[in-house]
Amino acid sequence: MSNTDRAVERAAAVADAMDDIARVDAHCRERGGIDRTGLERIKERLLRLAERDDLFSDEDFPPPQAAGASISYRIAQNDDEELALYIQSVGNGTSAPPHEHRTWAVIVGMRGRELNRLYGPCASSGEPQVQHEVAVERGTGVTMLSDDVHSIQIEGAATNFHCYGLALERLDGRLFWHARTAQWQPFIDDSQIVEARPTAPGGRANW
Ligand SMILES: [Fe+2]
Repeated sequence: MSNTDRAVERAAAVADAMDDIARVDAHCRERGGIDRTGLERIKERLLRLAERDDLFSDEDFPPPQAAGASISYRIAQNDDEELALYIQSVGNGTSAPPHEHRTWAVIVGMRGRELNRLYGPCASSGEPQVQHEVAVERGTGVTMLSDDVHSIQIEGAATNFHCYGLALERLDGRLFWHARTAQWQPFIDDSQIVEARPTAPGGRANW
């Protein structure tokens, strides 16, 4: 498949998935907001999209060279910046301490392995306690409501989908657990954001 054909097919596949995700989000909002059932449906939809990992190769979404760095390729976002899908690409390992998102989040694996520790909602209290661990890799994912806390650890290369209920630039006021001082502190996400929404035919105006 040529690069152009792949870009067209990718744009259509992403738009189809985001249309479905937007419907789930809208359905939940009508009933008071997103819940864990809605997040599971979004995760299942992203797992289906991740089966087409040929459309999301390292060739099209190169990982960063620097150890510990990550790139978040924005591949879809609505006009309100309230639904956004990123490909997070890591070339040589990275980690993030326990942190919250201030919006819902769904992470789905494609290549490599991202160890997620989930702590439940606890950013306003003391030291977070791990509730369970999930290895996010091909065929698996995790879901979080807006005040759930997680940490991640990636060894080697990994490529995953990260879907949020708000664009990354709008996630203000997030906290992370700073272990050395044993305090919650403002979280600065240092993942580089790269605009990668489709310009080829097949991309739809709303994504
Ligand atoms: Fe996170």
